[in-house]
Amino acid sequence: MFKMEVNMAEIIDGKKVSKDIKDEVKEKVAALKEKGIDVTLAVIQVGNDPASTVYVGNKKKACEYTGIRSLAYEIPEETTEEELLKLVHSLNDREDVDGILVQLPLPAHIDEDKVIQAISPQKDVDGFHPVSMGALSMGQKGFVSCTPAGIIELLKRYNIDIDGKECVVIGRSNIVGKPVAMLLLRENGTVTVCHSHTADLKEVARRADILIVAIGKAKFVTADYVKEGAAVIDVGMDRDENGKLCGDVDFESVKEKACAITPVPGGVGPMTIAMLMNNCVYASMLKHK
Ligand code: GUN
Repeated sequence: MFKMEVNMAEIIDGKKVSKDIKDEVKEKVAALKEKGIDVTLAVIQVGNDPASTVYVGNKKKACEYTGIRSLAYEIPEETTEEELLKLVHSLNDREDVDGILVQLPLPAHIDEDKVIQAISPQKDVDGFHPVSMGALSMGQKGFVSCTPAGIIELLKRYNIDIDGKECVVIGRSNIVGKPVAMLLLRENGTVTVCHSHTADLKEVARRADILIVAIGKAKFVTADYVKEGAAVIDVGMDRDENGKLCGDVDFESVKEKACAITPVPGGVGPMTIAMLMNNCVYASMLKHK
């Protein structure tokens, strides 16, 4: 009988992998506790942007789950840059604090770069400090920002080989595009970074064996941007025309063509927090090695 072959991508389950990583972190945290070492993360939120409140709440929950002690600094919108810098410096000086995270975005009157640079590179669990970014670009040890680290972890745990592969990153932000490009390069991928000035984005994207999409435009990448059998990683967190949460990739059409794809929600999103927890343990180990 005639049998129609329908190609369907493997759906990458970020929620499951995130839980596995948090369980691994939990064990490491417990082992450190046995030696009398507490892992501590300080989280600063300035003002009460609703999205930031959700993210910070999720970070606190993940700390509780893994056994990491969390210190919450929820400070008013009117806080001055000087006051915030003073708080960061005081946390840098505290022996009992391993990681410092300042939730972004900050209110407009505060210079984000200045605040990020004030965090001690030894406590930079977000991996946003120029020292961390520099180390990453030179292939040296250091904190890797959490979303890019989570993307690599997903690829590895789904046995998607990066070595020698054509990797195309759409987006060049400091938080995702640039660091994920560096990580793919470190894994011996052949890496192209596309952005709003790229002449023929579709043509470049179609070369990818691994396509990473981080542009912040709902369902921008449709099936005609994707090579048959490519792995597609969607970093977007957007709303569609009905206000429903979706990614930068048109999941329904692309899943018919890709070999593997991350959904939104439940793909890259949960990985960010898992990798943050992992970075906190790394910070503690750096201090106690
Ligand atoms: N705002 C959105 N994502 C992040 C993140 O990963 N870290 C921080 N500090 N702020 C964010």
